[in-house]
Amino acid sequence: MGADLDVDVAVIGSGLAGLRAAIEAARVGREKIVVGVFTKTQVMRSHSVSAEGGTAAVLYPEEGDSLQSHMYDTVKGSDFLADQDAVELFVKKAPEEILQLERWGMPWARRDDGKIAQRFFGGQSFPRACYAEDKVGFFEMSTLYDTALKYDNIHFYPEWAAVSLLVENGKFKGLVALELKTGKIHTVSAKAGVLATGGAGRLYSFATFGYSSTPDGLYIAYRAGAPLKDMEFVQFHPTGLVPSGILITEAARGEGGILTNANGERFMKRYAPEKMELAPRDIVSRAMYNEIAEGRGVEGPGGVKCLHLDLTVLGAEKIKKKLAGIREYCMRLAGIDPIDEPIPVRPVAHYYMGGVDTNIGGATAVKGLWAAGEVACVSINGANRLGSNSTTECLVWGAITGKAAAEHVLANHNQTTVNKSDAAAIEKHIYDELLGKAPKENPYDIRQELQTTMEQTCHIYREEKSLLQGIDAVRKIRQKLFRGVVDSSRYYNTNLMNVLEIEMMIEVAEVILISALNRKESRGAHARLDYPKRDDVNFLKHTLAYYTEDGPRIEYISPVITEYAPTERRY
Ligand code: FUM
Repeated sequence: MGADLDVDVAVIGSGLAGLRAAIEAARVGREKIVVGVFTKTQVMRSHSVSAEGGTAAVLYPEEGDSLQSHMYDTVKGSDFLADQDAVELFVKKAPEEILQLERWGMPWARRDDGKIAQRFFGGQSFPRACYAEDKVGFFEMSTLYDTALKYDNIHFYPEWAAVSLLVENGKFKGLVALELKTGKIHTVSAKAGVLATGGAGRLYSFATFGYSSTPDGLYIAYRAGAPLKDMEFVQFHPTGLVPSGILITEAARGEGGILTNANGERFMKRYAPEKMELAPRDIVSRAMYNEIAEGRGVEGPGGVKCLHLDLTVLGAEKIKKKLAGIREYCMRLAGIDPIDEPIPVRPVAHYYMGGVDTNIGGATAVKGLWAAGEVACVSINGANRLGSNSTTECLVWGAITGKAAAEHVLANHNQTTVNKSDAAAIEKHIYDELLGKAPKENPYDIRQELQTTMEQTCHIYREEKSLLQGIDAVRKIRQKLFRGVVDSSRYYNTNLMNVLEIEMMIEVAEVILISALNRKESRGAHARLDYPKRDDVNFLKHTLAYYTEDGPRIEYISPVITEYAPTERRY
């Protein structure tokens, strides 16, 4: 049957990974391939735009840094769960991507000698985060979007939310998208796809994610038969601004900012005597949690217990030049100027190490579908990602998957035919079951209940009791009668989109909780109170969660270990 729209490569998502993939697919397939970019938001509102601190790569080996060091830092940071062949490829490709962006016009900050400047980030042994003030994501997105617009074979479909993948006999055939402007459901046929929709997003209420960051891409891939890998590993960034949760970049500590408790003590010396505030995030966040739990937190806005990030030691000039963005957030959202006062911060949900299982080339279990960026789990991050590696990962695997998808199309000339029954089922759900129906329970209360459940049962620390409570709560939430949208308009019905998002959030939350329950050890960001030690004998392995009607089925696979055998992590 004919689709409403045919493209060769469908890129789903328009953040850093999606744009990088689209450019590469368009470049490889120039004159022969049409690339469609389908995105729930406007391109420049993709969540990548809010990345702040830096993009890691080894640029100056002659000054002592090395690919080997970047690789080891990343593997050690991952608590030895990362696939080392993937990490090796990552560190090798990273410098090319920095220079490629430079050629496309990225305004990287400069050293006095005119070369690209780099700063320290947690767990990295050298200053290797390239930056542009503290607005790295904004400048990278602008650079990539400007570049993408130069290709006449890239077509953008903004505010087309992917709600299902079309897969037949294990092969990718396209997607079903809800066009927010008109409320129409479109069937899009494609010969290859790149999923780049970001991570699971706002499953937690105190989070750095934008409100549009929800696990849509993870959900549609999971339902289409691709397993989700290592979803139990959720990263809590140490410095969320209280009370909003807005990210205060790790670059603030990279530039010399310090963390203090209610006694004015630099408490990190007791947890990571060498790296102090620049230990990896799992370690700093746990330390902060402990400080607050043991009564050494400070009173933050609204009486919230938090800690102080003190940048007054940096001086006004450095803050204005290198951290202007976070200074503005502090002044606007917390009423303080970090030049004069410490910033109230506490750990905040920031990133998901897990994602759609892919091989080293970004290929998923669905033939013809690749995944890149936070939605994917390649895995270079294992149990804990190092700051500044994520934007690099988006660029590296955006390029790899865009090329692979284009080559797949060039090698397979068959016309794609699609079955429209998926779209019909979605139309029925949206138009007959949701639109114009008053829900018995307010969907926004349900979303809040889900987020509170995740905050209370699967946070920095978890244990069997809390995880079982979380699973029970999520299953009860699924049964609640929130599926309805009073507003029956088809045009820009954001309530409708929100209800669809909540349905997807519930399913992915369940995967996280069950994966966490089954991992009976502590590793990286997964800290079990009842299993406080890492257990390499039984759990040096990746979790795979497969969709079944009765809930996720869990399997395990071994990580790829090439160079570094697991050792105790000390910082
Ligand atoms: O702190 C930050 O700027 C965040 C960077 C990252 O998550 O890589």
